[in-house]
Amino acid sequence: MSIPPSSDTPSLESIEQEVQQLREQLNRHNHRYYVLDEPEVPDSEYDRLFTRLKQLEKEHPDLVTTDSPTQRVGGAPLKAFGQIRHELPMLSLDNAFDAEDQADFNRRIKERLKTSDDIEYACETKLDGIAVSLLYENGLFIRAATRGDGTTGEDITQNIRTIESIPLRLLGNDWPQRLEVRGEVYMPKAGFERLNKQAIAKDEKVFVNPRNAAAGSLRQLNSRITAKRPLTIYCYSAGIVEGGELPQKHSEILERFKTWGLRVSPELKVVSGVQACEDYYTAMAEKRESLPYEIDGIVYKVNSLAQQQSLGFVARAPRWAIARKFPAQEAVTTLKDVEFQVGRTGAITPVARLEPVFVGGVTVSNATLHNMDEIKRLDIKIGDQVVILRAGDVIPKVSRVVHSQRPETVRDIVMPLRCPVCDSEVEREEALVRCTGGLYCSAQRKEAIKHFASRKALDVDGLGDKLVEQLVDRQLIKTVADLFSLTVNEVSGLERMGKKSAENLINGLEAARKTTLSRFIYALGIREVGEATAQGLAGHYQDLSKLMAANSEDLQTVDDVGPIVAGHIEKFFQQAHNREVIESLLAKGVEWEIVAPVSGGNSQPLSGEIWVLTGSLTSMTRDEGKEILQRLGAKVTGSVSAKTSALLAGEKAGSKLAKAEKLGVKVYTEEDFIKMREAWGE
Ligand code: IVH
Repeated sequence: MSIPPSSDTPSLESIEQEVQQLREQLNRHNHRYYVLDEPEVPDSEYDRLFTRLKQLEKEHPDLVTTDSPTQRVGGAPLKAFGQIRHELPMLSLDNAFDAEDQADFNRRIKERLKTSDDIEYACETKLDGIAVSLLYENGLFIRAATRGDGTTGEDITQNIRTIESIPLRLLGNDWPQRLEVRGEVYMPKAGFERLNKQAIAKDEKVFVNPRNAAAGSLRQLNSRITAKRPLTIYCYSAGIVEGGELPQKHSEILERFKTWGLRVSPELKVVSGVQACEDYYTAMAEKRESLPYEIDGIVYKVNSLAQQQSLGFVARAPRWAIARKFPAQEAVTTLKDVEFQVGRTGAITPVARLEPVFVGGVTVSNATLHNMDEIKRLDIKIGDQVVILRAGDVIPKVSRVVHSQRPETVRDIVMPLRCPVCDSEVEREEALVRCTGGLYCSAQRKEAIKHFASRKALDVDGLGDKLVEQLVDRQLIKTVADLFSLTVNEVSGLERMGKKSAENLINGLEAARKTTLSRFIYALGIREVGEATAQGLAGHYQDLSKLMAANSEDLQTVDDVGPIVAGHIEKFFQQAHNREVIESLLAKGVEWEIVAPVSGGNSQPLSGEIWVLTGSLTSMTRDEGKEILQRLGAKVTGSVSAKTSALLAGEKAGSKLAKAEKLGVKVYTEEDFIKMREAWGE
């Protein structure tokens, strides 16, 4: 009698099946990545499948086949291009995932070099593009190849010729007779966005990310298409060197490259020791989002070529270099459900409830799906496997769906016909669905109160989101005005509220009563009236009752107020319940300083001017300075340009002051400004 396999030791048959499935999946992903330039899953998911297959093959060597995806590295060259055999193989890099891996790498190097001295490293960004080899003979560009499988690549000479930043003839004359330059061809983020926008407009396929856009562009059989793509290069090493010599340090080779007109990353830095490597990593991780191109890590290279030579290679990677990867920004998870959230203005947004997944350094369990158009575009259903993207501090989003893994049990996402919170009817505005309940809807009320108390509005200390929700749910408050009648007793009875925090809230409310007109207008939460518009309105009207009485035509004389915003403002103040709330707020002591217009004089002497504030002011905060300037009619912007009328420079003013001086923009000190205000009777 055969013994059935127990549940924790899978049968050989089921292992074979899993191996087979993994190979099929990996082959499909390889094809999509290398041939179609349209990956379906993030690299982290690919790595997971690959590691699992490798592990199974290690445990069951008899299952290894020569065509298993584990038996080759990188992509097979495309058939349509000619092939080029690399005279020196194009290697790959070992990876380090954390500080410990990095320290191990440093230790191994020191041991091999038998030294206790700090090692000198060249630190570079790891660009996310396509590795290429460029061959120059007697200073002339001869041919170019992709990395391919490391031994043989595709001949992409014609396509490389179309990239303007790659010199067809090297500058100077001190180059080796034969020189192979290696580097990464990439597409800057802005170019990628532009390309995808054009593709959407033409109803064409969009690229998943800049890397795939670069790969797709470079491997066009028609180089006229490549020529239209925004590609560029950073060169990062030399391959063949014949008939001439290069410097003995990696960083100096790159410096030399620059003199020959080759692009080299400006982020290159030479450091000493492992701690400095770690510092470079931290600094670049912070800078990553603001770089105009995508990087997925740092490459550290031993800087001395003599040391590189003595360290040598293992398998397909040098011992003298390592790639320190940033945490993955993409991960795959399951869409468990979709719920609908009602915002301050009633907009109903679908929110994805996810199987929690670790991505970009945090655990993500929710992501916005924006609107019905987005749901249609993604072709997403409940139960799907989805790719979550979390780049930098940006809110996580569903970037795509793994359609090939769609289970049969998926459900459609259906927009509600009534508000999920207050059951009012909804109205549709293009892709948006909006609850018509207004302040009858408790969700809208909660959001309106949160907004009213937020930092740029009345800035109420001690009033967090959870507390607002409790106050509304328990019907202690209905409108923002009710906040000012709350008592310590009422508040201290709430969940997680002691007497102390209740007192803090009441004190916070007391302090918030004194505000400015522009904050007050912003706090009202009128549709499309953000901070800047509120400041414009406050500066223009200077008096709430005048603003409340203004009609749409008059409102449009205010800077940046067009017919739509004017309509929202007019409608807001026409509604009786809004007027009641405002009256009640004023009755409860909410107040601001009223600046009387200068009699006979011009109340807005700076009207039409554009001002910039910089440095620190002593008699007022920067925000107060900004409000005063706006009240005087100026538009306040953040950067100095030829259009700037004047710069108000406080202490420790830096680059903006320098720029203003260079452009001949008028510069005023705080003292000048105070005198000017006095002269205007402010
Ligand atoms: S050095 C032996 N430097 O990363 C040296 N590579 O995983 C190998 N890459 O195929 C390359 N930025 O496509 C080097 N600053 C950089 C790089 C870089 C990106 C890519 C390159 C290579 C892959 C290795």
